[in-house]
Amino acid sequence: MSRTEDMRKLAEELLHFKKSPLYVERVANKMLPVIGEGSLSAQIVFIGEAPGKKEASTGKPFCGASGRILDELLASIDLPRERVYVTNIVKDRPTDNRDPSVEEIELYAPFLDRQIDIIKPKVIVTLGRFSMDYIMNRYGLEDSISTIGKNHGKVFVAKVGKRKVKMIPLYHPAASIYNQKLKEDLKKDFLILKNCITGE
Ligand code: URA
Repeated sequence: MSRTEDMRKLAEELLHFKKSPLYVERVANKMLPVIGEGSLSAQIVFIGEAPGKKEASTGKPFCGASGRILDELLASIDLPRERVYVTNIVKDRPTDNRDPSVEEIELYAPFLDRQIDIIKPKVIVTLGRFSMDYIMNRYGLEDSISTIGKNHGKVFVAKVGKRKVKMIPLYHPAASIYNQKLKEDLKKDFLILKNCITGE
């Protein structure tokens, strides 16, 4: 199957993902699942936490306030958003923008694993501690797990099956909305990402 077909199948499964308690809320609130968006042959995959209200009403990841910051950061390193793939671990919106629960992460993570297998990125960028913890635990980096304050902007090498994939944990863009210092850190970390893709 092609990448497009594989992703379409995944999207179809997600649309009918009745096993998830968030599915019931999605349908009741006339919201949409947020699968992910971007190039299926992207070298970089960005992984956030879960969709917010705007994302769940449009079906598009990072299209609200956090998305505007992500767009600004991508523009700061001249990286067009269409060239990357953007997704989340949890694909349905947890009510009232609460943090995703351990159970929700467990339930939705297999979709994320499949997306990584389909796209086969060279670099995985996690946004926030939930996706950082998940990816580090899942892909052989459990010994390097620490706080996001310590790990942000470091380049790790994850084992995804037989492939070695660079992994860079970053702060979640939302954390920088009212914190200028975090915004500066994010900008510096994006330069590290840029070096990572141009320095090959
Ligand atoms: N925050 C996330 O983690 N993901 C989105 O898609 C939007 C906001």
